[in-house]
Amino acid sequence: MKTVSILNHKGGVGKTTFTGCVAQALALCGFRVLVIDNDSQHNLSAMFGCGVQSPNIRDVYRAGGSDALHTFLKTIRKTEINDLHIVTAPNVLSESDIRDPLQLKNCITSCRLDQHYDYILIDNAPGMDRLQAVSINASDKIFVPTELKQFAIDGIVEMEKILTYRFSACSGISKIIPNFYKNTKRQNTYIAALNKLFPGKVTKTVIPADPVFDELITEEKILFLHRLYSKGAAFYLKIMHELFNLNEDEVWEKMLEKRNRRLSEDARERFYKRRVQQAQK
Ligand SMILES: Nc1ncnc2c1ncn2[C@@H]1O[C@H](COP(=O)(O)OP(=O)(O)OP(=O)(O)O)[C@@H](O)[C@H]1O
Ligand SMILES: [Mg+2]
Repeated sequence: MKTVSILNHKGGVGKTTFTGCVAQALALCGFRVLVIDNDSQHNLSAMFGCGVQSPNIRDVYRAGGSDALHTFLKTIRKTEINDLHIVTAPNVLSESDIRDPLQLKNCITSCRLDQHYDYILIDNAPGMDRLQAVSINASDKIFVPTELKQFAIDGIVEMEKILTYRFSACSGISKIIPNFYKNTKRQNTYIAALNKLFPGKVTKTVIPADPVFDELITEEKILFLHRLYSKGAAFYLKIMHELFNLNEDEVWEKMLEKRNRRLSEDARERFYKRRVQQAQK
């Protein structure tokens, strides 16, 4: 099992979109995935159709000892995608809720989640305080989606410094994923600068700017079910392959099969519902 923190102390760079899309892709390929929403904006929970629910991640942080383990197991919920589970966030969550910065790590280890999941992805609020620390301490890897702007690059340099001096067990940023790519000269200069600052850490695949991501939110749709043939989905599949060393052709076949099965099940359900309604008229 791999546990990954999706992190950037800059806001609006695509952390939640990345977490949600990669999680969907992995689950549709047959991996068992748990996503943890560690942000009071609870955008990731909303992406999977979950409003504010109780208990949630805040209850885990505020509980102590064995109560925390008990609560943690109760927070894990199913989503509408098989093999993709979620721990939701409340609309109030701050660093003062964290009693023990190793709480999440202890929960994951003591609840033996490695027997139940292949991947755990933790979506974080922007920032680098105790709230992110609890996620970093629980993770083997740190993925950093970023926009391609000077302040964003400066921010990543700062983050790497914080990770190395504050977290002795953390080996720093694992991968930087350029987002909102439009292939402009300026953006390409920033990618070159990132490669120079972080050799081997910038993904070769970059995620293009694509309006499909906003459409998904407004229409409450799932990228890999309803927009599988979009540019955004194609690049997310590619990046998943690069980040987790998966076989691209195998992944595509599995995903297509699962997606088509799921869509025909949905269609069948709608058909039966219509027939029941017609029979009742
Ligand atoms: N590649 C992309 N192309 C176009 N729009 C995108 C892309 N990635 C994300 N977006 C959009 O950008 C906005 C911000 O994305 P998102 O919420 O994932 O960022 P975030 O880093 O999680 O933000 P926050 O720091 O507030 O949690 C959303 O409206 C999302 O739909
Ligand atoms: Mg977010």
